[in-house]
Amino acid sequence: MQNNPFSLEGKTILITGASSGIGREVAISTSKMGAKVIITGRNEERLKSTFNDLLGDGHILLSADLTQEEDITKLVNSISQINGVVHCAGILQPFPIKFIQKKQIDTMFNINYYSAVLLSSKLLKQKKVLEKASLVFVTSISGTHQPYFGGALYAGSKAAIEAFSKGLALENSGQKIRSNCISPGMIRTPIFDEFIGYISVDDNVKAYEKNYPLGFGEPVDVANAAIYLLSDASKWVTGSTIIMDGGLMVR
Ligand SMILES: NC(=O)c1ccc[n+]([C@@H]2O[C@H](COP(=O)([O-])OP(=O)(O)OC[C@H]3O[C@@H](n4cnc5c(N)ncnc54)[C@H](OP(=O)(O)O)[C@@H]3O)[C@@H](O)[C@H]2O)c1
Repeated sequence: MQNNPFSLEGKTILITGASSGIGREVAISTSKMGAKVIITGRNEERLKSTFNDLLGDGHILLSADLTQEEDITKLVNSISQINGVVHCAGILQPFPIKFIQKKQIDTMFNINYYSAVLLSSKLLKQKKVLEKASLVFVTSISGTHQPYFGGALYAGSKAAIEAFSKGLALENSGQKIRSNCISPGMIRTPIFDEFIGYISVDDNVKAYEKNYPLGFGEPVDVANAAIYLLSDASKWVTGSTIIMDGGLMVR
């Protein structure tokens, strides 16, 4: 195909959370679009499984616990310059507000917020982010649009990332470095299974899915949006959030 605006040929992309769910699919899909990917996560066995499913050569696997600042530093030190990041690492844990203590806030924000902020900051400080690069953060519609019971802490961490991404977009526009978020509704992944576990019985899940005119999403839906944001097709898009919710909010 001539001049495919979504091509990632010649680009090197760092993907966090690549050992599972959305991050795994982002890694595989971006490699299919020609990117060299650097994948990271904690679980080496699952990370290797993603690595084995990548298309093309020259990919790199680096395990890291992104709640540990020294692991983030080591990760940044060991990579060369990159054209993009897709930050997918994250956790979902329900905490009813009256039972929240500082420990729970730390647990949630350490991975969902601090890791993204510290990783971005260190990458920029060490000049690892090339001109015209694209930084992408996977947030959630619960952050600013669709609260759910027990989800206030999780939502806060995702809303904070969306605010951070806008600041990042502004501060780095001189180098044409862009920063955007993808804000999905329910996507079928291990986190989804965890969430669905709270709804419990099958009938409730089916009833819940009816809220989504197009049904629940698949990891590849998010991966395709990430390809757009990483590619030159989105060169005029920064400080934005793409909501992907299968029509949930048009109801
Ligand atoms: N699935 C959904 O419905 C949905 C909806 C909206 C937003 N999201 C967001 O999408 C992102 C990906 O979610 P998912 O559904 O793909 O979940 P998932 O399958 O559970 O994957 C989560 C990933 O985060 C990584 N991770 C967690 N803690 C980490 C840590 N301390 N250090 C390094 N990596 C860590 C995990 O790595 P290890 O397993 O190797 O530790 C795993 O690769 C999350 O940020 C989530 O909030 C998901």
